[in-house]
Amino acid sequence: MATEYKPRKPAWSLRRKLLLIALPLVLVIGLALGLGLGLTLGRDHNDDDSDGDNNGPEPPSTTSPPPSPPPTNGTAWKPAVNSTWQIVLQGAISVPQDAKSVTPDVSIFDIDLFDTSKDTIDTLHRLGKKVICYFSAGTFEPRRPDSGQFKGQDIGKALQDWPDEKWLRLGSEDVRRIMKGRVELAREKGCDGIDPDNVDGYQNDNGLDLTKDDSISFVSYLSNISAQHNLAMGLKNAGDIIPQVLDMVDFSVNEQCVQYAECGTFKPFIDAGKPVFHIEYPDNAGTELGTNTVLHYCGNDGDAEGREGFSTVLKKMDLDGWVEFCDQKVAVTAT
Ligand SMILES: *[C@@H]1O[C@H](CO)[C@@H](O)[C@H](O)[C@H]1NC(C)=O
Ligand SMILES: *[C@@H]1O[C@H](CO)[C@@H](O)[C@H](O)[C@H]1NC(C)=O
Repeated sequence: MATEYKPRKPAWSLRRKLLLIALPLVLVIGLALGLGLGLTLGRDHNDDDSDGDNNGPEPPSTTSPPPSPPPTNGTAWKPAVNSTWQIVLQGAISVPQDAKSVTPDVSIFDIDLFDTSKDTIDTLHRLGKKVICYFSAGTFEPRRPDSGQFKGQDIGKALQDWPDEKWLRLGSEDVRRIMKGRVELAREKGCDGIDPDNVDGYQNDNGLDLTKDDSISFVSYLSNISAQHNLAMGLKNAGDIIPQVLDMVDFSVNEQCVQYAECGTFKPFIDAGKPVFHIEYPDNAGTELGTNTVLHYCGNDGDAEGREGFSTVLKKMDLDGWVEFCDQKVAVTAT
């Protein structure tokens, strides 16, 4: 592969950082104010039901996961090239159950698996939208409901810019079992597809000697599991394993191929009839971008060579509700 990959920042870790600062504070304050209040705060924390399924607090992580739905042999949804989409990973998007529309009126929403409730997913479906559920498959994040299940031996070095998030041993049976649980959760919540992030640890100083073959095998595993659960699955970035895994996945989610002038690497998806959901993070995102900026990221030549057919969104690094499209329309999804 001609292009050399630079490690990418997980674009939404600001929220995670804030939570990590806030959580211990809440607990410490709770204890300081006495047991009664401490319990109340603890309960409040549980009641926020961070997996969002409105089924109340998560069971302790040591109990076995709920039975998964029976494997299906039906055909999973396959997203089409040039589909319109929006991605919001900063907080849960807010769509009232009786909403008549959602902003923007795109066909696909890529949203956080844990933070999004089944009700929200049901509402998006009622409005004719498809839902891709994002989770980190290749890193350990301390705040997820199942984080307690990971074993120390499977946890490697911290991501370069985010010391709380650590690479995972992709060949580990435990890691794979936990990720299977996440795929099952996606199925239970009614997601149409999954966007498993951070499958490219081999490109980074991961502390676990992860190789490209580890990533290929891991993507193969996730692909088998998601097919069993009738879910479409994407490949996030990981440009140099595309030849080996293209047949196993249904779409690409790419960050910054124009910024790194490597969109051509992802073109095989388009050639195979599979969409590339493409994100760029222009400097002034969050305010309406100038025509030249939009043309730069939305062109088909120069740094954007190979972008033809991609579904491009211009976003802020924190992946909040703000988005600008190539037609220069700006929208803000409520969170
Ligand atoms: C892709 O989608 C855009 C807007 O959604 C539309 O204007 C364009 O015609 C589509 N292109 C193709 C090749 O279908
Ligand atoms: C996925 O399934 C295929 C076909 O059944 C099998 O050959 C392959 O070994 C599986 N991959 C993994 C990693 O389990």
